[in-house]
Amino acid sequence: MEKPQLFLMDDPLARVNVMSYSDGEGLGWHFDRSEFTTTLLIQSPLAGGEFEYRTDLRSDDDPNLDGVARLLAGDDPEQKALRLSPGTLNIFKGKNTLHGVSPTQGERNRLIAVFSYYERPGVMFNDDERLGFYGRTVA
Ligand SMILES: [Fe+2]
Repeated sequence: MEKPQLFLMDDPLARVNVMSYSDGEGLGWHFDRSEFTTTLLIQSPLAGGEFEYRTDLRSDDDPNLDGVARLLAGDDPEQKALRLSPGTLNIFKGKNTLHGVSPTQGERNRLIAVFSYYERPGVMFNDDERLGFYGRTVA
């Protein structure tokens, strides 16, 4: 990442989360607000639950809406999917790489820890952001 130092976010709700996907659940295509995200897969589902992505689909200067439309129509040969194994540490730049998680299948949940690091210490969400991401404002 070529970062001199990273700091875990100070926000008690946002610094570390474990997301659980049960049968049929996934995460829709999206770009992240943060420059990069760090995840650790704890448990994989029986099937599905793949990490799908399309590297550098847009840039800071070009939203590439036509390219986004092509991918959403299933017509982008650069789209890739990874089936992560438990213990996989994944650091990815999601700001301009469209990504999501395909629906899981089966009785074993997909469990993934998400760590929020920043280049400066003391980063906190405001109440609107906490409400938007977590549906509450206190830990
Ligand atoms: Fe994301």
